[in-house]
Amino acid sequence: ETVDWDPDDAGKGGYDHYMLKEIYEQPTALRQTIRGRTDPLKQRVDLEELPPGTFSGIESVHLVAMGTSYHAAMYAQSLLTDRGINAQAYLSGEYGSNPPPVDDRTLVVAVSQSGETADTLSAIRAIQGTGARTLALTNVVGSTVTRECENTVYIRAGPEIGVAATKSFSSQVATLILLCERLSHATNGATPRSTSDLFDSLAVLPDDVQQILDESEAQAVASAYHDCESYFFLGRGVGHAVALEGALKFKEITYDHAEGFSAAELKHGPLALVTEDTPVFAVFTGRDDTKTVHNVKEVRARNAPVVAVTDGNHTGATEYADHVLSIPDTHRDVAGILANVQLQLVSYLAADMLSRSIDKPRNLAKSVTVE
Ligand code: G6P
Repeated sequence: ETVDWDPDDAGKGGYDHYMLKEIYEQPTALRQTIRGRTDPLKQRVDLEELPPGTFSGIESVHLVAMGTSYHAAMYAQSLLTDRGINAQAYLSGEYGSNPPPVDDRTLVVAVSQSGETADTLSAIRAIQGTGARTLALTNVVGSTVTRECENTVYIRAGPEIGVAATKSFSSQVATLILLCERLSHATNGATPRSTSDLFDSLAVLPDDVQQILDESEAQAVASAYHDCESYFFLGRGVGHAVALEGALKFKEITYDHAEGFSAAELKHGPLALVTEDTPVFAVFTGRDDTKTVHNVKEVRARNAPVVAVTDGNHTGATEYADHVLSIPDTHRDVAGILANVQLQLVSYLAADMLSRSIDKPRNLAKSVTVE
């Protein structure tokens, strides 16, 4: 008797797809990301890769990235702006062609899981010699971006095989939260109270993600809606970044049309496309939730099904929703990581119901090494 054995399945550890395995690895990945990097007693971030004084004199931050990494960069833009630091996320493919003014008070952060994305490398090369300081944030030790940048911080997510990035986004954002705190201390001096809440939330983040993996309502949501033609994702602040990432994941692996936007943009165009056949995912992260509830009412008035991703603390967020994807109560800077895990599960389950090629979606590559 022989046993059929497909070498492609060898690394999947019993999961049907690498993507699902990597979604489930997130609690472990996040523990690795955070381990040893926070000192809750001293309320200090310890990124040992960065020598003292790395950020002295920095007045503005540019984050350059593509794809999922760009959404992590947008997330960080929101966190830095919130801390009173000038910050802007750029698509590195645009930045490399037309770099904005920079000088020795500018920190340019290249966010790249692989460290090999051509657009992101050319963005860094475009500002070499200007005096701007450069920092790589990557998953791959010794990758090209680490050689092009002055300093490197590793996200420590472990190898990611699925083309659709999952655990790398969570670990990128967790690392960026730490980086933003470090920058905030270097440039402003942070308020101890908010830092201590944040450190508490980071410490339980792996358990909070595990709770979502154990209890997610995503199966019911994917079953109810995987046959629709268009999907919209909206949110504000870090929730905007998560909305874009939710839509990217959905289109990458289901091949259905999915669009993410700021909830603030709804009335300026997207609302024209909203019908009873376009599910709307509303991401609530504790910033301007009342305004987003208002947007939910607007799409409900057009009979669109609404899925709210929320900790339930704002009663309006659940009141007008057809489905709720619950996230544990946490610091608002961290809430987007949790909301995104719920959306990863919906995309995965919908793509699986549609029998898509989940680990190798058509036309896409894990690492895009040409511009
Ligand atoms: C490709 C991949 C995406 C990834 C992006 C940036 O588009 O399909 O999953 O987010 O490249 O890759 P990087 O390695 O720079 O994060």
